[in-house]
Amino acid sequence: MSPFLLTRTLPEDATEAALRADVLKGLSHTPKTLPPKWFYDAHGSELFEQITELPEYYPTRAEREILVARSGEIAAATGARTLVELGSGSSEKTRFLLDALTGLHTYVPVDVSESALTQAGHALIAQRPELSVHALIADFTAGLSLPDTPGPRLLAFLGGTIGNLLPAERAAFLSSVRALLAPGDALLLGTDLVKDEDVLVRAYDDAAGVTAAFNKNVLTVVNRELDADFDPGAFDHVALWDAENEWIEMRLRSRTDQTVKVPALDLAVDFAAGEELHTEISAKFRKDGVREELSAAGLELAHWWTDGEGRFALSLSVVR
Ligand code: SAH
Ligand code: TRP
Repeated sequence: MSPFLLTRTLPEDATEAALRADVLKGLSHTPKTLPPKWFYDAHGSELFEQITELPEYYPTRAEREILVARSGEIAAATGARTLVELGSGSSEKTRFLLDALTGLHTYVPVDVSESALTQAGHALIAQRPELSVHALIADFTAGLSLPDTPGPRLLAFLGGTIGNLLPAERAAFLSSVRALLAPGDALLLGTDLVKDEDVLVRAYDDAAGVTAAFNKNVLTVVNRELDADFDPGAFDHVALWDAENEWIEMRLRSRTDQTVKVPALDLAVDFAAGEELHTEISAKFRKDGVREELSAAGLELAHWWTDGEGRFALSLSVVR
């Protein structure tokens, strides 16, 4: 059996304290907001896996196509002995990298979702008895420290998850990633690309309503953790394209005038009919923009690969 280690760098009570602070700040703000990392409890992670299989949600399939075609080149360019993956979720697409990286010693999946990490970890150790897996429950935006494993390291950040950060957050995140890398290490970054508005909006507002359920799950998390009384049925899922910022914006629109109580925060929040709670953005990219953001963080874009339809890109930066 391969070693499987699970390390929690997020103390359970710190998560609760962070959730309280985020909810208090977000619901007192105009417009009201709720921060996205709270989507991913066990049910949220399960709903996200369903999203990846929706006919409208092309990013997962497009990125998988690139990984299938390019994992050999990525392995040759990096020779990685440690693969670190931020926001690894189910690690489903990662298997193409794991197969190609023949000298790999340790895989370090990093996620806030403990349920996603344990499920992915168990599947991996069953399939790859020779691989050492060191899973980390951690927030990748909060000063990550990595286990001491052999280099070179390849740090993968897939799924277009970087697009869920605001531009200033992305800059801080990329600089913190750069600081984790030594000469010879590399960053593999997945970015969804700007495209036709209809295609984009449908990917975030599917016919079966799975994305709507995923968006509303954040209300259920706040109900459970902070004893709030959000009625998810009293909100409509909204996904719209912001052409200026080139990002999809997810919101929850109150169907009626209503007051939501959050006893754990001693808070009563009024929503007017039609008022929108902002939950998540998903930014879309162009090659020049990705190159500039990498460069601002001291990283140089060395390879740029897209799927056949040019919907999604993987870029590779190797530290000199
Ligand atoms: N990489 C997978 C999953 C993408 S969904 C794929 O491409 O399909 C985004 C993942 O990032 C989820 O598993 C979520 O739990 C995790 N995540 C979101 N915010 C995070 C944060 N701040 N720190 C660590 N993980 C986070
Ligand atoms: N990283 C994914 C993306 O931006 C996350 C995601 C997919 C998402 N669908 C969503 C986040 C709906 C919030 C709501 O594509």
